[in-house]
Amino acid sequence: MHDDSLKKTILVALCVCIVSSLLVTTAEVSLRGYREENKRLYRIDNILLAAGLSGKKNDAVRIYEERVRPVLVDLRSGKPVPRSDFNDVLNIDSFDIRRLADDPEYGRSIPEGADRAGLARVPAYMPIYFILEGGEVHRVVFPIYGHGIWSTMYGFIALERDLKTVRGFTIYEHGETPGLGGEVDNPRWKSTWKGKQAYDEEGNLRIGVEKRDVDPTSPDAVYHIEGLSGATLTTHGVNGMVKFWLGDNGYGPLIERLRKDIYGYL
Ligand SMILES: Cc1cc2nc3c(=O)[nH]c(=O)nc-3n(C[C@H](O)[C@H](O)[C@H](O)COP(=O)(O)O)c2cc1C
Repeated sequence: MHDDSLKKTILVALCVCIVSSLLVTTAEVSLRGYREENKRLYRIDNILLAAGLSGKKNDAVRIYEERVRPVLVDLRSGKPVPRSDFNDVLNIDSFDIRRLADDPEYGRSIPEGADRAGLARVPAYMPIYFILEGGEVHRVVFPIYGHGIWSTMYGFIALERDLKTVRGFTIYEHGETPGLGGEVDNPRWKSTWKGKQAYDEEGNLRIGVEKRDVDPTSPDAVYHIEGLSGATLTTHGVNGMVKFWLGDNGYGPLIERLRKDIYGYL
């Protein structure tokens, strides 16, 4: 065969393709474990960040194991799901929001007019995270998600034990534009959530993320988070998702239950 024959060119190209695809597949399979572990650690970091517990990088898992109690909750009743009811899909250790939302048994459609997060379907069960101090519930971290302008944004909101005061807010996954909607992930903006009131004294949901001037001395200021400039649509998305998840179709029934007896819940 001549060096420049067509047959030889095709043979070499084929060999390169086969070797490359083998390399890529091997890398993908062997790195899957690392990727899953990194995702788990990133999630832990963000739960701790929302809860105001973030320590040094290497400490995160230790702090999580000592201070955080994850519980899977039936959102309709607000009751915890016992481990004996877990199966392949309904399982706090392998919980997958998208898989549960699409599942006919474990997901549910959002009633018309109540879909403030633009999600259409959500899981009927969600994991929540109790932060313990001296064996008692100190804070509660709730996963939240909803649509921005380009993407679904995923995050956490943490409430103090009074179930009204915000301790922290994080967004750990989104596809909004860097410098505009991407500022949802800006630590300075996220820090403005701390100390805001999600509910009033009567338990009405009052928190709002909006681009409007609120007199900082007015009684409304404790419920108001200033929206992101140049990102009205992302701001609207964050407002909708927080209101949805803290409302009657999200964690409302659970929060009601916790208000009655937070210590007896675990
Ligand atoms: C390339 C491009 C990317 C944009 N990305 C975002 C975004 O991530 N979030 C957002 O709310 N608006 C984004 N916008 C702007 C919106 O179209 C809209 O102008 C903006 O939300 C208005 O916000 P403002 O009233 O604060 O100026 C983007 C616009 C362009 C042209």
